[in-house]
Amino acid sequence: MQYGFFDDVRREYVITNPRTPWPWINYLGNEDFFSLISNTAGGYSFYKDAKFRRLTRYRYNNVPMDSGGRYFYIREGGSVWSPGWKPCKTDLEYYECRHGMGYTRITGLKNNLEAELLFFVPLQTRAEVQKVTLRNTSRETKKLQLFSFVEWCLWNAATDMENFQRNFSTGEVEVEGSVIYHKTEYRERRNHYAYYSVNQPVQGFDTDRESFFGLYNGFDDPQTVREGKPRNTVAHGWSPIASHYLEVELEPGNSRELIFLLGYEENEPEEKWESKGIINKSKARETISRFNSVEKVDNAFAALRAYWDQLLGNFRVKTEEEKLDRMVNIWNQYQCMITFCFSRSASYFESGIGRGMGFRDSNQDLIGFVHQIPERARERIIDIASTQFPDGSCYHQYQPLTKKGNNEIGGGFNDDPLWLILGTTAYIKETGDFGILDAAVPFDNEPGSEVPLFDHLTVSFDHVINNRGPHGLPLIGRADWNDCLNLNCFSDDPNESFQTTENRSEGSKAESLMIAGLFVVCGRDYAELCRRLGKIEEARRVLTHVDRMVEAIKQHGWDGEWFLRAYDYFGNKIGSKENEEGQIFIESNGWCSMAGIGLEEGMTEKALNAVKERLDCEHGIVLNNPAYSQYYIEYGEISSYPPGYKENAGIFCHNNPWIIIGETVLGRGDRAWEYFRKICPSYSEAISDLHKVEPYVYAQMIAGKDAFRPGEAKNSWLTGTAAWNFYTISQYILGIRPSYDGLIIDPCIPPEWEHYRVTRRFRGSTYHITVKNPERRMKGVKAITLNGEPITDNVVPLLPAGSECEVEVTL
Ligand code: GLC
Ligand code: GLC
Repeated sequence: MQYGFFDDVRREYVITNPRTPWPWINYLGNEDFFSLISNTAGGYSFYKDAKFRRLTRYRYNNVPMDSGGRYFYIREGGSVWSPGWKPCKTDLEYYECRHGMGYTRITGLKNNLEAELLFFVPLQTRAEVQKVTLRNTSRETKKLQLFSFVEWCLWNAATDMENFQRNFSTGEVEVEGSVIYHKTEYRERRNHYAYYSVNQPVQGFDTDRESFFGLYNGFDDPQTVREGKPRNTVAHGWSPIASHYLEVELEPGNSRELIFLLGYEENEPEEKWESKGIINKSKARETISRFNSVEKVDNAFAALRAYWDQLLGNFRVKTEEEKLDRMVNIWNQYQCMITFCFSRSASYFESGIGRGMGFRDSNQDLIGFVHQIPERARERIIDIASTQFPDGSCYHQYQPLTKKGNNEIGGGFNDDPLWLILGTTAYIKETGDFGILDAAVPFDNEPGSEVPLFDHLTVSFDHVINNRGPHGLPLIGRADWNDCLNLNCFSDDPNESFQTTENRSEGSKAESLMIAGLFVVCGRDYAELCRRLGKIEEARRVLTHVDRMVEAIKQHGWDGEWFLRAYDYFGNKIGSKENEEGQIFIESNGWCSMAGIGLEEGMTEKALNAVKERLDCEHGIVLNNPAYSQYYIEYGEISSYPPGYKENAGIFCHNNPWIIIGETVLGRGDRAWEYFRKICPSYSEAISDLHKVEPYVYAQMIAGKDAFRPGEAKNSWLTGTAAWNFYTISQYILGIRPSYDGLIIDPCIPPEWEHYRVTRRFRGSTYHITVKNPERRMKGVKAITLNGEPITDNVVPLLPAGSECEVEVTL
């Protein structure tokens, strides 16, 4: 069953039924001010950091789901309704929600009144614009009452929901004309405030929550709205809100536009006050004046559209698969921007208070983002590297507001350092900016400890060398990419977290074949970089270690039919036919295949065949098999999940692309494509009631074949799946791969594909690439012409910036 459809021309997903199987959301803003918005206008806003600067309140895991957001109530005669259906849930004659690139437009129709709400965060603006258009489609004059509503969060989203003995006494607001200011704690350490405005005179307002709702009512039935009478309350403590009250008269056929603004500002210490106790509002006034007319708002909206035209123009494909094209050209790239901005912090599955930016996560997110805004990728690489320690280890996460490593989570995840090599080389291949390697980057943000970024790559590589186990394979530490394979944890206390409990890696023999494969791939990349920098000795040293690792993998990491996953604390095998459960895993087989380990000996092919046989299912490739049916104290969290979910045999979409790239190494384009399509959300649109989450973005996990409900997805939006799938489809299936010297053309496609076209902007030039497949092959470039002239290998060279060229490829 479907709940809407794709509108590719407008780059929107159009939801036509508000009762989606789960809230289907969108993100507004991609710089400093952010909002999450569901298809019924639920969600919240924050500035930079979803934990420390939460502007509006949101209650996760609420009953009913997704209660709380920016709500409009329309009262006409005795009836009350909301254009987004919720919270009133009054039946509408028409409902539509269009999620687009950085905006959401919700339209509701009732009693011949159409209300259209357009939400977006303009570029370079610390505010969410809400443009409300009311249209009278009847033959009579209408008199209606409009109430707006948002609920303020007391800034720190964590203490906001626990420290009520304090919170209920701190709330403060100011009301000035049509603007409601939230200034809780502004008097002491804070220098920031939020505001909610409308560009017309109001006929009333409310800022005290209980007065607005009545103590025993919910969002669906505020007492003031039911009675049509605002109370003009000024909140003192308890729970401050902001609600405007407007009376609107509309002639038949007429419409009226109102502009609401939900914003945030910070003042310098010496400019904090207008007069004693009264905040200095000049910055808010200035922002409000930038958006106080329909024309100004429409211009800002057009600028946002133009911005996305430009961004998405860097990679465009036209194949015969409509569902593929819309993902590659629109939604997958959009999701890559979102994961770049948020890492794993704030979604409808991530509460915004748990995690900041992940070291491994953000590095991987870069590979799907560098082609969009390389300057921002550059800054991110430096921020991430600044949280590394001199021995190459690093904080697992950092807070976006402070950019400091997060002490509570700590470090010790031995895969982490390698991802910095992946992210940095991806950036240089895209931009040619070798200069980034000279940037002075501190360790642990300590001033004075700066070394060139290049040295951070060296210590990243060496961290693996310096932490090897009895088989010469990388020690796993707290965990590798799989956060739930906790081989040094031995937790029997339900009150401790698997992620942070002290690990017993001292004397441990736990080694990871996943890190081993990753090390080979990243090591070769790092060696290649060294070679290009003329550091021939270093390149040689690196490759010696890489070769040794390859040997160690072949000798101690091969189980006969596939690659082992790990050795545990005691040196016993994991992911082996000798195990009763968890005999085969996806991660090590993915990375060792990507590295082409044992390609000549047939190991890669065997391993991928075993993956097909044992891990593949209808909805994707599961993580391990057989699933763990009981808790193994020596394996940790992985065996705490019921079979088929999350890291215990769920389809963890993030790692499916590793197998797909492995298949392209073998040249099996049919299989690569089959796997790709299975987890690609636009292909699941028709089974939305089973799939449950948004059909326009990837989810972290789809329940696997051992689960109670296989095919049900969870954890949409913030997942490395976005970057990995974009990387895989663009670089390994469509085969347009940035390199230091130019664009490598190396498609690996299903034989049915006859031709496709890609437009790629790269280093300032535009490449129009046509791939033809007259012999129905899967891989292997036979001929390439550049502007009609044949070229001898499959690297299209760099062109003078600003040029355009035609590239024709025959397989
Ligand atoms: C989550 C984490 C990521 C980890 C993965 C597997 O997506 O954000 O860091 O690698 O789970 O456990
Ligand atoms: C849990 C999740 C895993 C995630 C981790 C992050 O262990 O299963 O996916 O990476 O939490 O802390």
